[in-house]
Amino acid sequence: VLLAHRVREAKRACREMDALIDEYRQLFNTPVERLHALRDALVEQLEAGLANKPGGLLALPSYVDVLPSGHERGHCFAVDLGGTNLRVAHVQLGEERGATEATHIREWPIPDEHLDTDKGTLLTYVAQRTAEVVQEHAGGGGAKPVVGFCFSFPVEQTAVDNGRVVVWTKNFRGTYLVGEDVVGALRRELAAAGVDAEVPAIMNDTVATLVALRYGEPDTQLGIILGAGTNCAYVERADAIGKLPAGFQGRTPTMVVNSEWGDFRSPLLPSCEEDLWIDCSSAHPGSGLFEKQISGLYLGEVARRILLRLAVKGELFGGAVPGLLDRHFKLTTADMAAIDEDDSAGLLGVAEVLDRALQIGGTSLQQRQMVREVCQLVCLRSARLCAAAIAGILQRAGHPCGGASASGGAASAPAPHVVVAVDGSVFAKYSKYRERLRAALEDVCGKAAADSIELRLAQDGSASSSRRLSPAAAAAAAA
Ligand code: GLC
Repeated sequence: VLLAHRVREAKRACREMDALIDEYRQLFNTPVERLHALRDALVEQLEAGLANKPGGLLALPSYVDVLPSGHERGHCFAVDLGGTNLRVAHVQLGEERGATEATHIREWPIPDEHLDTDKGTLLTYVAQRTAEVVQEHAGGGGAKPVVGFCFSFPVEQTAVDNGRVVVWTKNFRGTYLVGEDVVGALRRELAAAGVDAEVPAIMNDTVATLVALRYGEPDTQLGIILGAGTNCAYVERADAIGKLPAGFQGRTPTMVVNSEWGDFRSPLLPSCEEDLWIDCSSAHPGSGLFEKQISGLYLGEVARRILLRLAVKGELFGGAVPGLLDRHFKLTTADMAAIDEDDSAGLLGVAEVLDRALQIGGTSLQQRQMVREVCQLVCLRSARLCAAAIAGILQRAGHPCGGASASGGAASAPAPHVVVAVDGSVFAKYSKYRERLRAALEDVCGKAAADSIELRLAQDGSASSSRRLSPAAAAAAAA
């Protein structure tokens, strides 16, 4: 009798758990019609942004109106202030077309104390680290060192060599330099650190990623970051950028625009209660809602919060909430990827991550399967949303990738090969993410159009051994 009771109880618990997970399967469900509607809504918000209309994305002109041909030569320093790391490199543009080499590259995690920008120490830190590299490498000869600045936050520009901070995003908060020129501030801080440098260009990381790959790959049209944050830059017709100053005359009819798509918002986004909690406890509640469903700062945290709910409501791990499951950000996106990518029969890799990251030991195979499914759902939602956004930007850029072309091009024209430069840890390190993104693009765009879209990893970190231009060096080269 006791045994029969236990079996009944176990079956009931399983059914309840399945019903709970099923809620997320439903909530995160993104049929292709919904992705098309999201794609179109994103294009609308982008167009509103270009025209400076309310409700639009920031859609920031980069003043990059000439893209590199691959024939640029010389050397420069590159400063890349990302969401989690600072990198400084000395880069030699190659002798051969499109080839570059970082002769020296250093990287530091950005210490937490600088995330509160109101302390005023962030650029001092950046300048001091940069000065170390510049002083090691600057040859004699008296020429001022040239520093390209890759900056992974929105800036409002009037030329390629200036940029007023619009707002700090991701985990950075405060009002330091908001409305002020961050290039001038960097120059001043560099001077205080003993370096009199020229800073001829600042670029958002998406713009720099596009420009960097374009140096060696002429078909590059988009630059995307899928890392701590997410964003996309693309090549726009200058006459379609209504917010450019009246009478603006570029050197070419096009300009790279930084969309700031992380701020896209729509009631059609497949949201759950956990997204609300993440938003409320973030550095910028109410902003970056799209980014909060997509990027690496948040994916692990979404998964952890869902698992916490399953533990509390569905007793996923028995009666209690185990280990560190109720601690914020204890499951990173890298942990989540490791769980998702464990294809072994016993899911021992999942057990290892649960043990190491959350101090949850002794799990059953069934529990590990449920944990893995949650991670897969969170990843899939992100990848499908990202595919819809890529399709939207490609349409806007005139690529016939499913549905009517937003910029008036013929949808039936054969799709030209287009290269999308992608950087960031989620894309670089999470192979199942890449697979799902690819599959989602086929869903959204149709197989034939998707086949013409090449998503190419364009990582600056590999600049030392690759034949690509590092994004930050791209800034200087383009200038
Ligand atoms: C955030 C920033 C954006 C940046 C992106 C990726 O969304 O606002 O400027 O490009 O993160 O780093």
